[in-house]
Amino acid sequence: MNKLAVTLADQHVSLSLKNPVLTASGTFGYGLEFAPYGDLRKLGGLVVKGLSLVPRDGNPMPRIAETPSGLLNSVGLQNCGVEAFLRHKLPLLPSADVPIIANLYGASEEDFASLAGILGAEPAIAALEVNVSCPNVKQGGAAFGQDPFAAAAVTEAVRKNAGDKPVIVKLSPNVSDLAAIARVCEAAGATAISCINSLSAMAVDLAGRKPLLGNVLGGLSGPAVKPVALRCVWQVCRAVSIPVIGVGGISSAEDVLEFILVGATAVQIGTANILRPDSVFRIVQDLPAACEKYGVERWEDLRGKLAVD
Ligand code: FUM
Repeated sequence: MNKLAVTLADQHVSLSLKNPVLTASGTFGYGLEFAPYGDLRKLGGLVVKGLSLVPRDGNPMPRIAETPSGLLNSVGLQNCGVEAFLRHKLPLLPSADVPIIANLYGASEEDFASLAGILGAEPAIAALEVNVSCPNVKQGGAAFGQDPFAAAAVTEAVRKNAGDKPVIVKLSPNVSDLAAIARVCEAAGATAISCINSLSAMAVDLAGRKPLLGNVLGGLSGPAVKPVALRCVWQVCRAVSIPVIGVGGISSAEDVLEFILVGATAVQIGTANILRPDSVFRIVQDLPAACEKYGVERWEDLRGKLAVD
């Protein structure tokens, strides 16, 4: 028996993962770019770059800026479009050995519904992740995830068209009550919640008197956001009964255990992959030793077991 395995499931659909470590969308390309750094088949799941109905060029350069404590990005969901992904990228991925999760982005509810129909019908896709949390686009993105009615409508539209695929809704920390948004997504048919996307942020060039990013605003990620992500995951886990996938500043196997301790079922590794392209593989490899060190025999012994008076 594989002691590291976890399941993402609601009352209707489920997805088994050989371990709880997935990649975070937007930090791992379409997967193949990272194949030279490790065995993709060892991952719990591979979440690919956000896909839209038509290709997107993304935001004006520069799109990346380093800060002392984290990374700022304003990529703007640059991608090749869903058709090119299905035709040219997906067939090259080891989908029989690792669940491929498609992250989808739409500028309208109708876009999300169409994308769910296309991706839901694709046997090599294991699950859909609905991006209602990108801080870097003018239409859609976080605008949907910050409005409970819009978040529920998008979740419902995707659920309706996704066939038997699990639907994960990725939420933004840039809201005043994340638990309430998670609850409406659960009621609208989400199989799982992933949180958090990046924090809305900016950086400036004092001498040049200009913003560092072409889009002015971007999303902050990396170790700086881990405490925010832990807080959000803990709050969301207390609010919903579906699985929660923790994302935000995870860069070691110990970090993975921390997120499971506050209630997460699985995690995604994001910015760490940009800093070191073998990060996610290293974390998967380190997980059994970390479990042994902290006396974790089964995930049930740790998940949600944070002692709080
Ligand atoms: O700008 C971006 O492409 C970011 C996407 C996201 O954070 O979901």
